[in-house]
Amino acid sequence: MKKLIGPNKNRTAVFISGTGSNLKNLIKFSYKKKSPISIELVISNKRKAKGLNFAKKNKIENKIINFKKPKNAEKKILHILSKKKIKLICLAGFMIILSRNFLKNFRGKILNIHPSLLPKYKGLNTHKKVLARNEKFSGCTVHYVTSKLDSGKIILQKKIRIKSTDTEKKLKKRILNEEHKLYPKAINKILTSF
Ligand code: GRF
Repeated sequence: MKKLIGPNKNRTAVFISGTGSNLKNLIKFSYKKKSPISIELVISNKRKAKGLNFAKKNKIENKIINFKKPKNAEKKILHILSKKKIKLICLAGFMIILSRNFLKNFRGKILNIHPSLLPKYKGLNTHKKVLARNEKFSGCTVHYVTSKLDSGKIILQKKIRIKSTDTEKKLKKRILNEEHKLYPKAINKILTSF
């Protein structure tokens, strides 16, 4: 697919650690004429993250940053972000908690997506926990990022009803599908108030 370059698009970086289905979806969204973002950079803390292939296929600059020494890693990333003139960061399955020092550089401009109705079920294994608790509903949330795990002001949320036939795998799939609609919507919502 050809990359549209719009002069008014917000230069965006996506941070991943794994599969990258949200990254793939955000790339697709960024190609739309009316999309307010262009994805200029992908950062992964995992060399083997499958999602890196979407960056490569779309010729988006991608960097693998080792977080063994988090301070150094963040410093490196900040340098790249500034060089690439990045204005918005979208975390998409990025399994690292960024420090307050890092975040202060991107206040109001760093978002995350989480597969639950926050503030319920922060952290890992959300679908398993939701099913074990016999919840009637679950969903996904896009929120601003703070240095506390899955906290920060909520931008948008999508609620879905849990089916009696839902397994962890089925629920994950249905919610991922909703995530792919919600992340672009949330980006559109906040970028109108930039
Ligand atoms: C998604 O469920 C997202 O909400 C969570 O991690 C998962 C990442 O999936 N933060 P993918 O790598 O985008 O496919």
